[in-house]
Amino acid sequence: MLSSQQAPEAVPASAVKTKWDTKTQQYHGGQEWSLLDNFVEDFSVTTNGLGIPQKALQAAREALDVCHHYPAADQEPAKTHLAKFLDTKSHEGIHARLLLGNGASELIDLVTRAAPEGPWKPGPWPVQYKEYERSAAALGRTVLKPTDPTPAALTCIVNPNNPTGDYMHIEELKQWIENTVANDTVVMVDESMQPWHSAAFQEDSLVSQSEWLADIYARRGVAVYIMHSWTKLWSCTGLRLGSLVCPTAAHCTKLKKVQVPWSVNVPALKFLEVVTSEAEADFLAETWAVTTSWRNSLVAKLQAMGAKAGWEIKGEDFLSWVWIDMRDEKVAGEAVARAKRAGVPVRWGAFGYGCDTCVRAAVRKPEQVDVLIAAWAGLVEQ
Ligand SMILES: Cc1ncc(COP(=O)(O)O)c(C=O)c1O
Repeated sequence: MLSSQQAPEAVPASAVKTKWDTKTQQYHGGQEWSLLDNFVEDFSVTTNGLGIPQKALQAAREALDVCHHYPAADQEPAKTHLAKFLDTKSHEGIHARLLLGNGASELIDLVTRAAPEGPWKPGPWPVQYKEYERSAAALGRTVLKPTDPTPAALTCIVNPNNPTGDYMHIEELKQWIENTVANDTVVMVDESMQPWHSAAFQEDSLVSQSEWLADIYARRGVAVYIMHSWTKLWSCTGLRLGSLVCPTAAHCTKLKKVQVPWSVNVPALKFLEVVTSEAEADFLAETWAVTTSWRNSLVAKLQAMGAKAGWEIKGEDFLSWVWIDMRDEKVAGEAVARAKRAGVPVRWGAFGYGCDTCVRAAVRKPEQVDVLIAAWAGLVEQ
């Protein structure tokens, strides 16, 4: 219920203006900041609250000086740096299976195009990040519900899941794949948000499971691809950086053949090279040090605010966002409108996800969170 003193007019999702052509394009957050005269911080995206890693940014700036040359066709040395980041012990195996892309979005589309014909199915959660479904539907695949027993040619699971923040640890994830997907099919596992887990994130990630990946392919013909969007951890959504670890080197070669050349530009390659190097180790150490405590503090404030209204704040502690079920679509719409007016836009679950009572808000610095919390003062009875 909205607070009785300040009960506003409900804002239906259909009345909210957006830069997206929502009849043709998939809605994503991150578009409103440039329209706000009083912009403070963007809470509508799941990027790192620390902002842009500065040394990598500087390197990307300097790389513009050579933008009269083509980017390296082998994506080196950035690719080797990323392989070492993903596998600190022996990177050669991953390196042979690694492909960089213009954001994960390019690679999602690439795998969806290349996978055998047939239906598409998401992971187990009621809603998940939509690019996988968008690409599948755009290419004419039948979209199945998570619970549909029909075997899918392509299964895509987002782990940790954006927006709900659900997460399966590695053994559970492998078991889910073993039990759920049909033989001779393709699986994409999106681990974009998984590196937030800890400094030892690799141990709870599929990147540490090369033997199992080779085995499930040999045993059952299940080709498991590991997707990463790097635009979140390293706050470079505008630069566009993603990667794909393929099940085998042969799968990688097949995709490379159909990938548009030079899709990762010169500044983005340079950014990746530096951000995965020792030069930016402090940025990651700080990310792992502050995100959970910033998130816990945001969660505590939201729980206090929404206690009477029964708000539910979802997601793992280590994640860079919270998913808030405000239990009332009018309250959620008003929360979105107020956040925007205060220069701190959030993402309404009504768009794309069909979760009208839910709002996604990024984990941000405490002083920025204060602006959002102030904007929501009196939103519900306390
Ligand atoms: C889980 C997940 N995967 C992939 C992407 C695509 O990211 P990009 O194309 O910016 O790398 C996003 C963006 O929001 C995401 O949240």
